[in-house]
Amino acid sequence: MDDQAMTATKPEAERHGIVGGYVPERADWVIDQNWQAYTAADHATWKTLFDRQVKLLPGRACSAFMDGLRDLPIAAETIPDFEKLSDVLMERTGWRIVAVPGMVPNDVFFDHLANRRFPAGQFIRNPKELDYLVEPDVFHDIFGHVPMMMNPVMADFMQAYGEGGKRAERLGVLERLARLYWYTVEFGLVEEADQVRIFGAGIVSSFSETTFALEDASPNRIGFDLKRVMRTHYRIDELQESYFVLPSIDSLLEFAQTDFAPIYDELRDQADLTPSMVLESDKVFARGTGAYHAALAQKEHG
Ligand code: CO
Repeated sequence: MDDQAMTATKPEAERHGIVGGYVPERADWVIDQNWQAYTAADHATWKTLFDRQVKLLPGRACSAFMDGLRDLPIAAETIPDFEKLSDVLMERTGWRIVAVPGMVPNDVFFDHLANRRFPAGQFIRNPKELDYLVEPDVFHDIFGHVPMMMNPVMADFMQAYGEGGKRAERLGVLERLARLYWYTVEFGLVEEADQVRIFGAGIVSSFSETTFALEDASPNRIGFDLKRVMRTHYRIDELQESYFVLPSIDSLLEFAQTDFAPIYDELRDQADLTPSMVLESDKVFARGTGAYHAALAQKEHG
């Protein structure tokens, strides 16, 4: 039996760290960032991505993100050195960055977060496909996530997510918790000074989604409600159809301290919601036209 047949007949192997034939050297999947090995082309790709985001983000990203970016050793010219980032981050919020080759299995991911280690993709995307990402790369993970982790509330929330993730997996409700992460850490919006701003890493690291999330007429922008969000499916391969707006970054603190078990119980019999749905009970900041995703569906179905 060859390797491929082995993995095909043993789905269990996937959960234990053999994804696409990749066998990690270490159980925690951590690798050396090997900063010296980045090429001039790698750094140039970073610079292209960096320059276009820093032009777009002032006035769009929330102040916690902008402050974090300012205070970290992240600059245009080169891909950051994870050790130098970790020195600053450790002092501020007790987190470290560790390099990983790409996506890691859930249990590995949760274990890192629960121990205040953020696993960041070591590689950078292909410059020919600047806006297409199969897996989170160093630009998404570092530029997108790390500035917010300089914020003590986000720092605690991420650790709580790691702890809660292991539990949710045992309870068979990981999907619910993953939606909370998706609609906050990855695609969250927040009210600030009477405006809606971005804090989600998936948005701040994406050229097209930065303006789409805030200014396009297509998506819904809905006030954040924990149970509602836990019921809402999301798009993994496309721009979001709905974004949720937190009243403040500090409101994440409450979620870091909440025992979700009673909420999981309460939601057990409630139907899931599609990403485009708007409910009577929603606090609607902007009702989307849905035009973007309608056009996509038309293209897909002819
Ligand atoms: Co991410």
